[in-house]
Amino acid sequence: MYPQPKTTTKTDAKPVTVATLARMKQQGERFACLTAYDASFGALLDANGVEVILVGDSLGMVVQGHPTTLPVTVADMTYHAACVVRGLSRALLMVDMPFMSYATPERALDSATRFMQEGGAQMVKLEGAGNQREVVEHLASRGVPVCAHLGLRPQSVHKLGGFRVQGKDEESAREMLEDAQTLEAAGADIILLELVPASLAKRITEAVAVPVIGIGAGPDCDGQILVTYDMLDITPGKRPKFARNFMDGARSPADAVQRFVAAVKDRSYPAPEHSF
Ligand code: KIV
Repeated sequence: MYPQPKTTTKTDAKPVTVATLARMKQQGERFACLTAYDASFGALLDANGVEVILVGDSLGMVVQGHPTTLPVTVADMTYHAACVVRGLSRALLMVDMPFMSYATPERALDSATRFMQEGGAQMVKLEGAGNQREVVEHLASRGVPVCAHLGLRPQSVHKLGGFRVQGKDEESAREMLEDAQTLEAAGADIILLELVPASLAKRITEAVAVPVIGIGAGPDCDGQILVTYDMLDITPGKRPKFARNFMDGARSPADAVQRFVAAVKDRSYPAPEHSF
């Protein structure tokens, strides 16, 4: 008999909601986000203070072993979300919309319906520039909380020509700022910025009222996210520049997660060496 993951760690802490994150932004309080793909990791992160848990389509790379996130399907995401949600009692569960699952507003609504009904998602995340306005509006107007992912959009890796920092010149920086404002106006509840110069991430975070989560986007975003396997030093090979190894000096994975949460909240992570 194998011990079950502690999926019932009940705390007195109130569940994290979209309103909680909005209030934290207003009060200048940082929040911590990490990825999970199963109940054990979900429970570990939830019990150690992580506010938002993302079932990322990064699972295509770190769990399934693909070189990109493109092969991940709606069925894969639904399965992993349903696993993770069984480990949670407090954190907000965000689920990635995989490649082409939101190619039209109708398709996006079908995918989001599965993630919310079968996977327990409380928010969906989609990669998009301003051209996703209609999709975001379609979801948001039907009560689906949406996170809009800008900057490096891994599902567009072949179009972008690699996993590179985005928004480095003034024209692309202005475009990204306008995209963030367009998607906020369309109803996005959160903006996520991946691989963006710290100065641009700061401009965007100040320009929108909704919370902004950063990954490789400097210290000024309202929240920070990492792929858990990177911060626990599980991912083989070279760690991305922006990801700190929180297992370094930690007594256990739980301790490493607590150190990540503390470092996000006291603003010691990300440091200048993790930013662009
Ligand atoms: O899929 C994922 O894990 C993500 C994060 C890197 C933000 O989108």
